[in-house]
Amino acid sequence: MNSDTILIIDSIRKSFVRNIVNIRGKDEDEKFYVLEDIDLILPAGKITALIGGNGTGKTTLFNIISGFFKADEGKIEFKPNGSLIELTNLSAYKRAQLGIGRMFQDNHIFQNMTVLENMLVADENFFGERPFQSIIYYRKNNNVEKERIEKAEKIFIDLFGEDNPFLNMKNEKAKNLSYGQQRLLGLARLLMGNYKLLLLDEPTSGVNPVIIEKIKAIINYFVENKNMTVFLIEHNMKFVLDVADFCHFMSKGIIAVSGTPEDIIGNPDVRKTYLGI
Ligand SMILES: Nc1ncnc2c1ncn2[C@@H]1O[C@H](COP(=O)(O)OP(=O)(O)O)[C@@H](O)[C@H]1O
Ligand SMILES: [Mg+2]
Repeated sequence: MNSDTILIIDSIRKSFVRNIVNIRGKDEDEKFYVLEDIDLILPAGKITALIGGNGTGKTTLFNIISGFFKADEGKIEFKPNGSLIELTNLSAYKRAQLGIGRMFQDNHIFQNMTVLENMLVADENFFGERPFQSIIYYRKNNNVEKERIEKAEKIFIDLFGEDNPFLNMKNEKAKNLSYGQQRLLGLARLLMGNYKLLLLDEPTSGVNPVIIEKIKAIINYFVENKNMTVFLIEHNMKFVLDVADFCHFMSKGIIAVSGTPEDIIGNPDVRKTYLGI
């Protein structure tokens, strides 16, 4: 490991149990491995992409890194500022506190809360053991709230300029934002925490090219202006080519190919089994 590493994924295995009908026509639980043996090192201050077919276990790996799932075997170590911390037995809450932030496949925007409230609930409790307390009690300290409102407004200006829909609509319900704007809000919200590593699950899925360009700019802002490291799952290969420094191709429960995005796109196995070209 060199000094610029932020995360070490070492021999991670994960199985689930599924119910099948066996050859005698009886129901039976069968254990199957989604992650056979995952080894991966994330360089700090870079953007790394994870690609692979549907159902190959990409989201499962993110769930293991953020502590939502427990791996069967293997370990994960995190190095947020110099010292190496073994994550394996830490809760999701603790991992978020240590600096691992997450954006989910479905945004997790609270539709009936205002745009601003969606930013304010994103304190370190948000991904924690009591996420709903953080929503209900976030108003309890007015000074803290004032600071957080200023922080949220500054984030909107830094990311989207002085005159932007998020500031203009800050007191409107989030459901009045377009789907693409909600995605951008989900990304902006990550700046409310003190995260070092962001896990983004399919940030561009289902949004239009204009929003994709904005997402690209935000991800670059995370890395260049906020010193963060980004690990993202993505199907859009053009996006991966444009933003990622490194790329890993997952197949059959392992990291089958690693390299620069150009290396991955040029790899004959990836072309045949995943890209279909
Ligand atoms: N909580 C779970 N229980 C049982 N099976 C699961 C669970 N989560 C994921 N899986 C299975 O694990 C496999 C990988 O899923 P996932 O990690 O979501 O894939 P990807 O994100 O690469 O599309 C799928 O076959 C999925 O059905
Ligand atoms: Mg997924």
